[in-house]
Amino acid sequence: MAQTGVRIKMEAGNAMDKIYMAGPWITELEIKTVEDAMRNGWYEHAYDYCEKFQKEFAAYHSRKYAIMTPNCTTAIHLLLTGLGVKEGDEVIMPECTWIASGAGISYLKATPVFCDIDPINWCIDPKSVEKRITSKTKAIIAVDLFGNMPDMDGLIQVGKNHNIPLIEDAAEAVGSSYKGVKAGKFGIGSVFSFHRTKTITTGEGGMLLLDDDKLFERCFFLRDHGRKSDGPMYYNYEVTYKYMPFNVQAALGYAQFQRIDELVGKKREQLKMYKEKLRDVKDIQFNPEPPGGVNGAWITGLVFGKSHKMTKLDAMEKLVKLGLPARPFFYPLSSLPAYPGFKEKYEPLNPVAYDISSRGINLPGAANLTEEQINRFCDGIKTILKKK
Ligand SMILES: Cc1ncc(COP(=O)(O)O)c(C=O)c1O
Repeated sequence: MAQTGVRIKMEAGNAMDKIYMAGPWITELEIKTVEDAMRNGWYEHAYDYCEKFQKEFAAYHSRKYAIMTPNCTTAIHLLLTGLGVKEGDEVIMPECTWIASGAGISYLKATPVFCDIDPINWCIDPKSVEKRITSKTKAIIAVDLFGNMPDMDGLIQVGKNHNIPLIEDAAEAVGSSYKGVKAGKFGIGSVFSFHRTKTITTGEGGMLLLDDDKLFERCFFLRDHGRKSDGPMYYNYEVTYKYMPFNVQAALGYAQFQRIDELVGKKREQLKMYKEKLRDVKDIQFNPEPPGGVNGAWITGLVFGKSHKMTKLDAMEKLVKLGLPARPFFYPLSSLPAYPGFKEKYEPLNPVAYDISSRGINLPGAANLTEEQINRFCDGIKTILKKK
């Protein structure tokens, strides 16, 4: 309860001109497309928008298959199940990400193994992955944090060296790319989120992208109560999940996807503005964009350099007093009550994650953010740093 209270307080803005952390950009196109699904998307058309969205989303990411799911958490669970992850297995993942990246590991009674992060891109560090591999490791989950891309070359190499599949959690990375390859094309499978806070939204929604025929067939089978598309009616071969998408949800996603350049452009523009307006402030770090890459900038991250002696909670408390919202950099998962007993083991192993997380915040990134609001927020950052 206390956590919820903090969240509401920390996000409270000025009622007249509220700055939102996240929120979508919905136009007439989305409204008309959803209306079409509502009016016509029934009977033999009940999955038309799901099919169209899946097909075009896969093609855009140069993948053979796309499977839409109720959200991204279920997409990861589906993929891990499809890969055969089971009780007693280990799956490697970064310390700093939303808990959903690894929830599926626990659903399957496997064990998450936490890795340190890179101090520049804040994503999983391949050197740390290498150290965590055991005979029980069944998969490596890389997360494109805030739209930042990890060292994919390094991760692919580690996966190859040990014959362990790589999964790309691209939930936050629509529009990002690494050395000319789009986020979502890495590893044996990748997942996206269309949560209401994401760049492309369906309210709740997710997508699993795959290239492998057999893995696709398995995941497709697992998504709808273990039946075969060419099998007899009401005939189930296994007890599996019910992770089917809904056509109206897909219609919204399909329409948003037609505007992907505009939506990603908005996010990238916000990151650019934050960087420009705070360029005189020394010793702060933003989402990087290495040469040859694109940062889709789902949300802007700001890490205060050590010289500022500013923790994320200090910063958020001071900002909220100025009527400005911010969110904390993801906590190291091993430090959370959700993973009892993990902190003792992982804090000494993952010092970069514990350090960066303690000094990082996320800046407002709603699609309706104005330049004036960004100015106001940047003035707030300057004020709290001067007051130290
Ligand atoms: C990195 C990451 N992975 C997974 C998810 C899960 O997405 P969803 O909320 O669609 O289940 C999210 C989003 O919240 C995320 O940010």
